[in-house]
Amino acid sequence: MEPVSYVVTDGIAVITLNQPERRNALSAAIRTGLRERFEQFNADGAARVAIVTGAGTKAFCAGADLKEMAEESIGLPGRDFMPILNRNIWVDKPVLAAVNGAALGGGFLLAMMCDLVVTVEHAMFGMPETKWSRGAPWSVPLSWMIPQRIWMEMALTGESIDAHRAYAIGLVNRISTPEHLMADTIQLAAKIRDNAPLTVNATRRMIYMTTEMGRTAAWDVADALFERVYSSEDAIEGPRAFREQRLPQWKGR
Ligand code: COA
Repeated sequence: MEPVSYVVTDGIAVITLNQPERRNALSAAIRTGLRERFEQFNADGAARVAIVTGAGTKAFCAGADLKEMAEESIGLPGRDFMPILNRNIWVDKPVLAAVNGAALGGGFLLAMMCDLVVTVEHAMFGMPETKWSRGAPWSVPLSWMIPQRIWMEMALTGESIDAHRAYAIGLVNRISTPEHLMADTIQLAAKIRDNAPLTVNATRRMIYMTTEMGRTAAWDVADALFERVYSSEDAIEGPRAFREQRLPQWKGR
């Protein structure tokens, strides 16, 4: 079994961390595999949406491989230590997380950096770095996702929050059961897959770029992003499909 596998079905790529006996911790093999799989997804014309998940039911990803770190005396991880979406690797298609269990440290990061998150009741989200004298500089985007008091408490105490708390504060989109997690995540991914690809792409960009700038500048950028969408063939195909009561045939142009 590869450390990170990649399977595409009906336009949805499933990227799976495959070391459940180590709780899918971010070993060198997992980090390399993850980067390769994101690159594969980006280049894959047959895949419109990706889902990242972990094998097993205990953990989505237990974060930094503490044993490997202890053995190799890893100090400063470096900016490319692991692939981080929107930081050191960019994909221009949506990525969802199906969080099947604990998401701790870098595992929390892995869920956080995805566009949408579906999880299970027994999942835990936390950043225990403060317990190990490591750090969570990666947690900066939480500033746009959850209230500061909650971020502060999680980061300073290293205590995890459960799936219901994560849902209540808007950190996850859906809570499912272990039996239905993949089906529910695929259902959510399929809704996005079937939508107009140019609009999906521009919308993701708009939402992330908005966090980088003030309101007027963001509005200008959003207008510019959507010019291409409005002037596309797909922008006529959508209303035509509605009028003719049929499914749209997207061309992505
Ligand atoms: N790095 C390396 N190995 C890890 C690991 C990690 N982050 N997390 C778990 N493992 C290993 C354990 O050492 C154990 O190995 P062993 O069977 O050889 O003894 C195996 O995975 C199972 O771990 P265990 O703790 O028994 O599983 P669990 O299901 O009871 O608990 C977690 C799962 C994820 C809650 C728990 O393992 C945990 O808290 N891990 C550490 C998380 C962490 O602090 N990450 C670092 C962030 S900086």
